[in-house]
Amino acid sequence: MTAADQTKTTDPDRKRQLGQFFTPENVAGLMASFFEAEWKDVRLLDAGAGTGALTSALVRRLCGEQHHPERIDLTAYEIDGTLIPALYKTIENCRQHCCASQIEFTCTIRNEDFVVNGSRHGELFDSDRKAFNAAIVNPPYRKIRSDSPDRAVLSSAGIETSNLYTAFLALIVKLLEPGGELVAITPRSFCNGVYFRPFREQLLNSVALTRLHVFESRQAAFDTDDVLQENVIIHAIKARSQYNRVTVSISSGSPGSAIYAREVAFSEIVTPNDGEKFIHFPVSDALTHARGVMQALPCLLSELGLSVSTGRVVDFRAREFLKKTPGRDTVPLIYPAHFDQGFIRWPRTDIRKPNALAMTQETRDLLIQSGTYVLTKRFTAKEETRRLVACIYDPERVSAPLVGFENHLNYFHANGGGMNPELAKGLAAFLNSTVLDLYFRSFSGHTQVNATDLRNLRYPPKSTLERIAQRLTATSASQEQIDGIIEAELGNGTAELRNSVELRDAVISESFNEC
Ligand SMILES: C[S@@+](CC[C@H](N)C(=O)[O-])C[C@H]1O[C@@H](n2cnc3c(N)ncnc32)[C@H](O)[C@@H]1O
Repeated sequence: MTAADQTKTTDPDRKRQLGQFFTPENVAGLMASFFEAEWKDVRLLDAGAGTGALTSALVRRLCGEQHHPERIDLTAYEIDGTLIPALYKTIENCRQHCCASQIEFTCTIRNEDFVVNGSRHGELFDSDRKAFNAAIVNPPYRKIRSDSPDRAVLSSAGIETSNLYTAFLALIVKLLEPGGELVAITPRSFCNGVYFRPFREQLLNSVALTRLHVFESRQAAFDTDDVLQENVIIHAIKARSQYNRVTVSISSGSPGSAIYAREVAFSEIVTPNDGEKFIHFPVSDALTHARGVMQALPCLLSELGLSVSTGRVVDFRAREFLKKTPGRDTVPLIYPAHFDQGFIRWPRTDIRKPNALAMTQETRDLLIQSGTYVLTKRFTAKEETRRLVACIYDPERVSAPLVGFENHLNYFHANGGGMNPELAKGLAAFLNSTVLDLYFRSFSGHTQVNATDLRNLRYPPKSTLERIAQRLTATSASQEQIDGIIEAELGNGTAELRNSVELRDAVISESFNEC
């Protein structure tokens, strides 16, 4: 019997009593994707492991990482002995995945009550065993009566709460080391329920909330298990104070559905001086607006006569041809480091990257004819304000008949060659606009922008892009100027545009599905 079969056959009364609502694979994948996951040694806690869906999702994600951990040491608690054989099977799969990725995998399965054992905090770790640095959990949901033994055990650990799920969260936070990461899917009730106020206070004093995700539909995330509670996922880091920024996101919960995300100040999550400490999910109008503007745009990239490709020069494969400075028989080699206020500044002596590529028989196919191109960065640093950063390659600023674009760039072109400079100017402004950046963040939690993402976007008509270019009088426009012009050209007519185009179903597959 597979782990999935096992979850279907569990007796309904038992399921209810033990709060057994099992996490669907797509939701487990989403949860796993929320970890920062920069560990070398993962000491993972899965409390209320069920058949191991959550551990399995995280292990799969970690095995797929380019820089994956060296070791994973799992501790899984599961009170229901009937689930243990299925849990062992899942763990065995995890072990095999890890083995294939050369990750050392060890585990301890505890067929026991997490409340009782988790509360014995001090005794849990032997002297040579360290606290957990990661926890993933879908805790059981059940009221704890005030005269129950569980309540007494929790009180002795300093935890006052009336529901098993918040008890699990409070215990897990205690068992994490400072900086340890927690990802939990829970009912939303703790965010504003009156009875959860002491829990909220305790939680906000011991972890920094970094990501809050809400499902649009109450049932979508757990449709096979008939859960009627609205569910949220939180990612939190054990810390004494909150971070300034929190990512809030929303999705339907069904497999492959788009995620709309935004970063907000922590003060938008918990209003300063709110005695109740309500936790808000400000999934805003701005996002909805950005989504509306983008979905109403009428053109595919091909309808503009343009394509987008990834830079052909993979520098470590062309090492012998790289030149620090341009010389005889070299061509300009353009990296993201050459981006400067909307244009390419080349050559640059203030960067570590090479400026040129030797022109030889071997490099000929890597080069393209000079012309006007729009370039975008494929990767941006987390701290960068925008995910999409575009600039113009202007042949009047870089004098050379051929050019090489490095692989960390995408370049927009017309049939392999340059494009009309006005179109390039309008396109670069559109790509640099806040509305597009918001839209991009809404479906991608990644800092990576692939050519496919750009290919799948919708664009304004050529005439609009050229009008945008004409309105941009300054050579390097500020963000405000760009946004003002884009808003004037696209924003106000949103409703009209939306009526005049047939909206295509842009099914955006999430990267977490690929884990
Ligand atoms: C909501 S289910 C989640 C299962 C699994 N983690 C998943 O996401 O599919 C909660 C699990 O906690 C287990 N559980 C309930 N009370 C428990 C307790 N006191 N100690 C340990 N496990 C418990 C249940 O048997 C159930 O398997």
